[in-house]
Formats: sequence, structure tokens, C-alpha cells
Amino acid sequence: MLSLLFLIGIHGTIGHTVHNKECTCIGNYLKVENTNLSVSEAFEKYDITPKYLPVPPKYLLEGKLVSADVKLGNFVPPIRTADPEIKYSKGKNYVNYTIFIIDIDGPGCDPYKGYLVSLVINVPKSENNLILSGDSIVPVSPPMVKLGSGIHRTVGLLYEQEEWINPDNVELFELARTRNINLWTFTKKYHLVDLVAGNFYRTELDYCADWKKEDLNDDLVFKVTVYSFNCQNGILKSKKSCESVPEAFRNLNITPNYVEVAPKDILEVDYSTAKVNLGNFIPPLRLVDAKTISYNKGKKRGYYTLLSIDFDGESNGKIITLLMNIRNVENIVPTSGDVIVLFTPPLPALGSGVHRHGKLLYEQKGHIDAYQLDLLKLSRYPVIPNLTQFTKTYHLGNPVAGNVYITELRHCDGSDECSNKDGSVKQCERLCKILSNCDSDQIDKMQCGAHDN
Ligand SMILES: *[C@@H]1O[C@H](CO)[C@@H](O)[C@H](O)[C@H]1NC(C)=O
Ligand SMILES: *[C@@H]1O[C@H](CO)[C@@H](O)[C@H](O)[C@H]1NC(C)=O
Ligand SMILES: *[C@@H]1O[C@H](CO)[C@@H](O)[C@H](O)[C@H]1NC(C)=O
Repeated sequence: MLSLLFLIGIHGTIGHTVHNKECTCIGNYLKVENTNLSVSEAFEKYDITPKYLPVPPKYLLEGKLVSADVKLGNFVPPIRTADPEIKYSKGKNYVNYTIFIIDIDGPGCDPYKGYLVSLVINVPKSENNLILSGDSIVPVSPPMVKLGSGIHRTVGLLYEQEEWINPDNVELFELARTRNINLWTFTKKYHLVDLVAGNFYRTELDYCADWKKEDLNDDLVFKVTVYSFNCQNGILKSKKSCESVPEAFRNLNITPNYVEVAPKDILEVDYSTAKVNLGNFIPPLRLVDAKTISYNKGKKRGYYTLLSIDFDGESNGKIITLLMNIRNVENIVPTSGDVIVLFTPPLPALGSGVHRHGKLLYEQKGHIDAYQLDLLKLSRYPVIPNLTQFTKTYHLGNPVAGNVYITELRHCDGSDECSNKDGSVKQCERLCKILSNCDSDQIDKMQCGAHDN
């Protein structure tokens, strides 16, 4: 629970109420102090070796995220976990590498299974971001840090390949649909014996506890405001900004620009802490945990396609989820039907403006072969640049039901109180002294070691 305190700003000296405010902007780059741990010491300290990796990597894999350093176990708030950049300066010529990014605490994980954040093979030596070269097998996404699921260790590993790996292997196509990997079996099968370099960070999305310290003496009682980057409160309620689905689609210029004919019926869409409501704003952190989607007028014997798409993402059609051959549309979950594109947290790129995320349900003409090559390729590169063309190809017609919300991740400006609040050493240390009960582990969790750039 103390992990949320590192975001605290102290105001005044009266009362001990905690106010939670949701941050939807990032104000600073989270830099990390040098740690004295070696790569192998860090992998052992955080219990990755020997449980997940019998032998730790030899060297450090240079990594960062869009607004945070990554250094052997530092804490990174989930909102900063997008867009990893990986470099390795000691690469050899004439050798190809495989890079895994695995959340070893992700959904469905155990010591034999990990959640793939990204997998790239046949990566040649390069000065650039290695994630963007070679053959991308599993497209990069933020880790799936569900609310209250504890600390997640996200590990990057670079293996030297003995030979070129054929990316057209069907098994490799399927990995993009499950994001589930048994590292031991995989490395054995593809002769990845030499683990050259590694790195990792930790992240967590927790409930915002109502923080109180009863035994503070009078002069130490204070009021705190928590600008939360890594906790959530309650369920976000927002009023409808439109009366009907066609009105919402028109107001947001989705019809006719992307969807020629808007659906008439509403698709009920619930995240675990927010409800989609015809164009409402949902902070990005509330989009991590998809719960259910429901349509109560579905036909008993029908086959349905569910498409969740970011009209302001890559090529104006970045797929968030694509499920086909769904039978029971009253209760659609992230694994219903045939998963073509597995749901991953749709964190918008930092500073890329407002994103419109549409949810569309189509009635299929019949069963669709989920293993045709075009759909296998779509799992690996989840983008639909022309939705009209796509619906034509698969005979989907116009959507029968839909919904839409907007989201955004901004750079903070001067008026934002969230600005520069996370990772501030001074506030963190001061708070620890006042509380006088922080042990070194808690301070570690609070990232006193990080400072604003
Ligand atoms: C790391 O090592 C340096 C030099 O050996 C030392 O001055 C510093 O106090 C150490 N830091 C920690 C956190 O142990
Ligand atoms: C590395 O991969 C490329 C294709 O990405 C291939 O052309 C080349 O032969 C491979 N090199 C080695 C040494 O396997
Ligand atoms: C999208 O595809 C449709 C149908 O094939 C075509 O008529 C339209 O011109 C395409 N739109 C763009 C922007 O390419």
C-alpha cells in the first residue's frame, strides 16, 4: 500500500485526508540512479534466477521506455510502460539474435509460462532500436498489469541464434494470438543456447488505499494529495455525451470517415473500473483491464465478429482486439470465439493527441477460417488501414452494434498538478522521515532512487 506514496505532494499541515486525483499526463522522464548490483546479482535478488532462468544473462541489455529508464529492477508506473527501446552495443557481425520481452507475472503465468510483451527473431547487429529490426513475431504491447495483480517483473532477454529461424512457421504465427510462451521449450527447440544480455523493470497497478496514520502526533498530521499514476479508485462514472450510437459516431467523425454506416444498437462495454458510454473520456490506466462486452439482440445460431479499433493509432486503424466466430454475444470476454488479435492494454502514445477507440460488432455471413494466411498475418501486424475494404473481404456488412470512447496521454504542462510528482526523491524521503516506519524495501518500492530529469 505504501507504494502509492511515492506520488505524494504534501500540502499544509491540517487534517489527514487523502485525495486521489487521476493523472492523465506525464511530466518528466523517470531517470534511475546507478545500482551497484551486477546483472547476475540483480536477477538473483529479484528471484528471476534460478526459478525462471537457470543461468542469468552475462551482460546488461540497454533498455528504456518512452518516459523511463530501465535498470535491473527499478519501479516504473504502468502508464510509462509503452514503447520499449532496446540496444546492445557488443553485438557481433554475421550473427542474428532473438529478443524476448516477457512479463513473468502476467496473466496465466507460472515458472514454465510467461506472457509475451514482444518477440523478435533474426535481429542483426545494429546501433538502432533492436525491437524494430529483424522479424517481429509478437507485436510489442505494454505488459498486462491488471488491477490488484501484484508486482510484475518484465524481463528483456537477448539470445544469440545458431542459425536463421524461419518466421513463417505456423507455430510462430500462433504465438501472437496467445502471447504465452514456455521459454525453456522454445529456446531448446530453436537452439538458443547462448543468453547474452538481459535487463528488467518492475511495475504494479494497485487499488488506492485510503491512507491514514492514526498515531501521528498533532504537529505531524498533514493533508496529502495523491496524484495517482499507479493506483485506481472505484468505478469511473460518466454521463452520456450523446443520445444514440449514430449520433456519437457522427460527432466524433467516425461516420462516414471510417465506418460508412453507423450501427443502430448500443454495445455494452465494461472495463473493470470504467464503462464505455458513447464518447466519454476514459483515462488510459482504466483501459488495462477489459471485462465484458454484451449485445442482447444477437441471433442464437449466428456467428459474430468483434472489432475494437483505435482510429487515431497506426495507419488510422490499429486493432486493439479482433475476435471472430463468436457464438454467444451476450457475454463476450477477451477469449471468446477465435482470437485473431488478443486484447492488450491500449495505452495511447505519449503526446499523440486524443484517440477515438471504436467497438464494433458485425454479424458474419457464416463461419470464417481463422487460420487463413491473411488472418495469421493480421495477428502479427494488427492494423486495418481501410475498414471498408476489410469488411468487404470477410463479408461482414455494416456493424449491428457499437460504442465508442476517447482517451489520451499528454505531456503535462504548467497547469497540471500531476506534473513532476512521480519519482521525486525529496518528497519521498521527507515522507519516509515523517512516517519513520519505512524500511529499505518500502523506500525501494517508492523509488527514492529515481529523480526527475
Ligand atoms: C556504490 O558503489 C560506490 C563506489 O563503490 C559507493 O560510493 C556507493 O555508496 C555505492 N552505492 C550503494 C547504493 O551501495
Ligand atoms: C540473419 O538474418 C537474415 C534475415 O533477417 C539472413 O538473411 C541472414 O542470413 C542471417 N544471418 C545469419 C548469420 O544467420
Ligand atoms: C477503401 O476500400 C474501399 C473498398 O474497396 C474503396 O472503395 C476505397 O476507395 C478505399 N479507401 C481508401 C481511402 O483507400
